[in-house]
Amino acid sequence: MATTDLHVPDDIARAVMDPASYPQLESVVLPACTWLRDNLPVGLATVDGWDPVWLVSRHADIVQVLRNQGAFHNGDFPHLTSIASKEFARSLTSGSARSFDYPSYMDPPEHPKVRSSANDFFRPEYIRKNYEPAFREFAKDVVDGLMARADGGVGEADFVNDFVRAYPLRVVLAILGLGEDLAPRALALTREFNGFHDPANHRAEFAGLPDAAARQWAATIKDLRDFFSDLRRTRAGSESNDLVTFIENARIDGEPWEDRYADSLLAGILPAGHDTTALALSGGVLGLIRFPEQLAACKRDPSLIPGLVEECLRYSTPAKHFMRIAVEDVTVGDAVIKAGDEVMCLFASGNRDPRVFADPDVFDVTRRPNPHLTFSSGPHICSGIHIARIEMRVLLEELIPRIGTVELAGEIEIEPANLVSGLRTLPIRFTTA
Ligand code: HEM
Repeated sequence: MATTDLHVPDDIARAVMDPASYPQLESVVLPACTWLRDNLPVGLATVDGWDPVWLVSRHADIVQVLRNQGAFHNGDFPHLTSIASKEFARSLTSGSARSFDYPSYMDPPEHPKVRSSANDFFRPEYIRKNYEPAFREFAKDVVDGLMARADGGVGEADFVNDFVRAYPLRVVLAILGLGEDLAPRALALTREFNGFHDPANHRAEFAGLPDAAARQWAATIKDLRDFFSDLRRTRAGSESNDLVTFIENARIDGEPWEDRYADSLLAGILPAGHDTTALALSGGVLGLIRFPEQLAACKRDPSLIPGLVEECLRYSTPAKHFMRIAVEDVTVGDAVIKAGDEVMCLFASGNRDPRVFADPDVFDVTRRPNPHLTFSSGPHICSGIHIARIEMRVLLEELIPRIGTVELAGEIEIEPANLVSGLRTLPIRFTTA
């Protein structure tokens, strides 16, 4: 097929690219993903304000792109970035647009070196041994708080803001060894960072500028890096088992981590490890509300909870996409993607691909296998995969036995973001068990 046949209609392209579409996830974004998978699984989008980008929507094609680091690299823009925002990023860094030295921005040989020297911290045994008891305390505490809202066995809450957000924040603060006095600052920076597209989060001095998102992104990264740079100095020589101390003591090729790597990893992990997990839990509870027999099944048989975790991850898909750039001409599906072309891997689409998931819109805790793309795939697969799975399992193990039924008690709202996005509010009415 010639490239001209592969152009994505403008309304479909905008539906998946424009952050403003995402509050209508189920009526606009996911139907556009279905259209793409069925009609143009690898299609070229040319939308005003963005460089041309290939939209890859089928599970198998996304996996092909993510696993082939030789043909596709991460480069300076691992998430969709407008032309104005790219120009601003380049102006900050005299040409190279890398806004910080986080693994998502790295390619070989730099990426495996930096990533592997932090590997031991992220192993499931390390997390279970050093952190699972603390996660359980946090989980009991937040579940107690939710139950305290019930009067006569019935309660109402905003599951997102009254309940679930507090938990991953405490988890990530524990992992970083930060006292809870820093929680409000950490929460504010996380919201600014992950909501950098959302004008509601923009600092007053950037309001209304065409490159406001990039300015917001750069300013928040700088604040986060400065915060961790100061903190790291206080941990030198400490034997604590937190990640800040681990990185301070870790070595790359026998040398201490360069400041730019250490501060960027820690700066990125605070938001990466926090909002994503909250969105996976709240999105999963929306699944349980819509498919109440699944909640009943998990209550009867708690051994289903690990499957519930995976289905929460698939159904919610908190990270909606990641980008890659072709380093050579490569064929994906019917398209020949040219060296230098940008590729947007639509994780939310891959996770609803009926070629891989039977009845993909059904929330089913018994799916086996459940090869969702929520953590990506290949060499850049999320480093926090075990932390996220363990913390979600622990919370659900505490919550499920204590909740009787749960239903919607108002309208849901979804963040206007095309990268990390999900429920902004989830009003629920619940009964206690
Ligand atoms: C449900 C929760 C989470 C989701 C959905 C999620 C999702 C993702 C995704 C999609 C990527 C991008 C991979 C790519 O470039 O293809 C990523 C990377 C990463 N995540 Fe997570 N994440 C979660 C939790 C965490 C946690 C808890 C941590 C750490 C405490 C973490 C740390 C990282 C790091 C360091 C990377 C960069 C990996 C690399 O490029 O080598 N994430 N995550």
